Amino acid sequence: MSDPNSAKFRQLLTLFITLFSLSCRANSQSSPVNNFLHCLNYESNPVLSRSIYLPSHPHFQSVLRSRIKNLRFLSPETPKPVAIVAPTLIHHVQGAVICARDNGLQIRIRSGGHDYEGLSYRSNVTFIILDMLNFRSIDIDVENETAWVEAGATLGELYHGIGNKSNKHAFPSGICPTVGIGGHISGGGYGNLMRKYGLAADHLVDAIIVDALGNVHDRASMGEDLFWAIRGGGGASFAVIVSWKINLVRVTETVTVFNVSFTLEQGATDLVYKWQQIAPNIDEGLYLKVRLTPLINGTSRGNKTLKASFVGFFLGRRDELVSIIDKSFPELKLTKDDCHEMRWVESTLFYARFPPGTPVDVLLNRTTWTPVFFKNKSDYVKNLITKQGLNKIWKMMIDARSSIRGKFYMEWNPYGGKMNEIPESDIAFPHRKGNVFLIQYALSWHEDDSNVSFHNIDKLRKFYAAMAPYVSKDPRETFLNYRDLDIGKNPSNETRFEEAKVYGRKYFMDNFTRLTKVKAMVDPSDFFKYEQSIPPIN
Ligand SMILES: Cc1cc2nc3c(=O)[nH]c(=O)nc-3n(C[C@H](O)[C@H](O)[C@H](O)COP(=O)(O)OP(=O)(O)OC[C@H]3O[C@@H](n4cnc5c(N)ncnc54)[C@H](O)[C@@H]3O)c2cc1C
Ligand SMILES: *[C@@H]1O[C@H](CO)[C@@H](O)[C@H](O)[C@H]1NC(C)=O
Ligand SMILES: *[C@@H]1O[C@H](CO)[C@@H](O)[C@H](O)[C@H]1NC(C)=O
Ligand SMILES: *[C@@H]1O[C@H](CO)[C@@H](O)[C@H](O)[C@H]1NC(C)=O
Ligand SMILES: *[C@@H]1O[C@H](CO)[C@@H](O)[C@H](O)[C@H]1NC(C)=O
Ligand SMILES: *[C@@H]1O[C@H](CO)[C@@H](O)[C@H](O)[C@H]1NC(C)=O
Ligand SMILES: *[C@@H]1O[C@H](CO)[C@@H](O)[C@H](O)[C@H]1NC(C)=O
Ligand SMILES: *[C@@H]1O[C@H](CO)[C@@H](O)[C@H](O)[C@H]1NC(C)=O
Ligand SMILES: *[C@@H]1O[C@H](CO)[C@@H](O)[C@H](O)[C@H]1NC(C)=O
Ligand SMILES: *[C@@H]1O[C@H](CO)[C@@H](O)[C@H](O)[C@H]1NC(C)=O
Ligand SMILES: *[C@@H]1O[C@H](CO)[C@@H](O)[C@H](O)[C@H]1NC(C)=O
Ligand SMILES: *[C@@H]1O[C@H](CO)[C@@H](O)[C@H](O)[C@H]1NC(C)=O
Repeated sequence: MSDPNSAKFRQLLTLFITLFSLSCRANSQSSPVNNFLHCLNYESNPVLSRSIYLPSHPHFQSVLRSRIKNLRFLSPETPKPVAIVAPTLIHHVQGAVICARDNGLQIRIRSGGHDYEGLSYRSNVTFIILDMLNFRSIDIDVENETAWVEAGATLGELYHGIGNKSNKHAFPSGICPTVGIGGHISGGGYGNLMRKYGLAADHLVDAIIVDALGNVHDRASMGEDLFWAIRGGGGASFAVIVSWKINLVRVTETVTVFNVSFTLEQGATDLVYKWQQIAPNIDEGLYLKVRLTPLINGTSRGNKTLKASFVGFFLGRRDELVSIIDKSFPELKLTKDDCHEMRWVESTLFYARFPPGTPVDVLLNRTTWTPVFFKNKSDYVKNLITKQGLNKIWKMMIDARSSIRGKFYMEWNPYGGKMNEIPESDIAFPHRKGNVFLIQYALSWHEDDSNVSFHNIDKLRKFYAAMAPYVSKDPRETFLNYRDLDIGKNPSNETRFEEAKVYGRKYFMDNFTRLTKVKAMVDPSDFFKYEQSIPPIN
């Protein structure tokens, strides 16, 4: 890699961009995107021109669609970018930022494309996509227990890379192997190792970014304020993340997983009630989540019920796991036969629901996760829900499911452990001590019909409204990585700050104030703006 920070390189880049900006300002038949392209001078640069896709390009549609994970945003009505820039070199990222900025074009940055609301590739303003998919190298240093990972790599590629070098190391990030490093880690990022080690963003030691002026920085040159903000505050309000330096964490050579289910008739309510007390407080090496699925056709007689699946991950062997569960949660009746021992890297396949025996190379496949139409939402729970409350929730869920045309379930993810120990101000991610669990509401369907979509989403919003008595208030906290446009209006005009405060407090609580100040420092003209970005406030 040529040194993008060298003074000479920057001088050349600036000169080159200035010349072309001048020449295109003189050009009368100009549109922002033409000016942008002239500014990049892409026609005379074969490497760059190969990374640019205009709507007329034969591959424009396939590149655009390749990482759209929510079919709702594949529709013809979804507004399209005026160009996709998928650079292979860091100075082309710099050029894209400078030329977009100089021509008043907004950019949307995409790495893995898993944003729940598609904010990395759709907007109602004129925009270009800066697609980081070609930045995907992973360089693992097992001796020093660190790695450099580029933004466009996936979690699966990282897990595969770690597993290839060590059975004793891991990285505490999310479940789905096709999720992109760029969006995931800057939004916090959590998985089965959260109670033991905290979030992915708690294990960042350095980063390479391109700022709003097109300059390249590492941690030292960006400063601690900005480095704080991009750990949990989302990258896209502040900079283009090019790569992260992460700390690996240690795991046992053998881990154990299980998945046991109970219906209401089999005592699910008592078990979930007790689970709330156990899961956030038990051994930190045990991550025990619950998946709650209403079954409207659950029994042979068609009785409606609900199934609670207790899905466990344990850092250790099954004998030890069974004895921990026997002591704290005997009602689960966990047996050795329920438990499966494997390497950590193999456990990532189990959680991604691949059948037993699937080779780990499947982690390198970026298209294993089949897109569906979906809407997910989130909530934080601070107080135990009573059995009476649980019964009400089950009834509401079964009712909602009866009128939803698709799949609907909740996942309850315990907090506690290391999450209680890390101060709320440590990084921008604020949801720490005091949370019992995080709820994810998951609704998906297959019918390509806007009425079904409207109807389903309406049911989910009503269900979410009815959950208010059981979850956090003032603000009703929301997890940034579970992006949700419902929680605050899209800021557009002078009222932008007032509106941004609504979603800002839910995602970041009081850390929002510091985020707006960092933003004012590093991007006062608000170049890195998008539908749920952080506005600059001094
Ligand atoms: C199937 C599935 C499973 C998931 N499981 C988990 C889980 O277990 N744990 C968890 O924490 N989350 C999980 N998520 C949520 C996921 O972490 C977020 O959607 C995350 O933002 C995705 O990152 P991405 O790069 O794939 O997404 P993108 O859509 O590319 O980006 C998401 C956001 O980050 C911004 N961004 C992306 N790349 C960059 C960059 N290089 N620089 C600056 N900004 C950037 C985008 O502009 C956008 O705002 C899951 C999502 C899905 C769809
Ligand atoms: C664009 O506008 C439509 C119609 O108002 C809205 O449904 C959609 O969510 C908006 N898109 C974004 C990315 O805000
Ligand atoms: C570990 O880090 C040290 C100090 O940065 C470095 O000198 C050494 O080469 C690294 N080890 C490996 C295997 O790269
Ligand atoms: C690591 O990857 C290399 C190259 O794909 C392969 O030959 C080797 O067997 C792998 N090693 C392990 C331990 O998975
Ligand atoms: C309910 O179960 C019956 C019998 O097993 C099956 O025919 C029917 O398709 C199921 N309905 C739904 C909505 O799953
Ligand atoms: C179904 O419901 C009926 C009536 O409530 C009940 O008698 C029966 O035991 C239930 N069946 C099952 C399999 O739970
Ligand atoms: C656990 O079991 C439930 C119920 O069968 C299933 O829906 C879920 O996908 C399983 N989870 C995992 C991680 O295997
Ligand atoms: C990746 O997974 C998808 C979905 O399972 C499959 O269709 C495709 O063939 C796989 N690609 C490779 C290269 O294995
Ligand atoms: C929605 O949430 C569920 C539960 O956590 C998760 O498994 C699923 O992958 C999410 N759905 C999508 C489409 O991202
Ligand atoms: C959607 O609903 C409207 C009004 O109820 C109806 O006119 C239209 O035919 C429906 N569309 C589809 C595809 O079902
Ligand atoms: C923003 O301004 C536009 C035009 O100036 C106006 O049409 C729109 O209603 C305003 N939106 C809000 C949320 O105030
Ligand atoms: C970060 O947010 C937490 C939770 O709202 C708050 O307690 C803390 O004071 C905030 N820190 C800063 C530096 O704003």
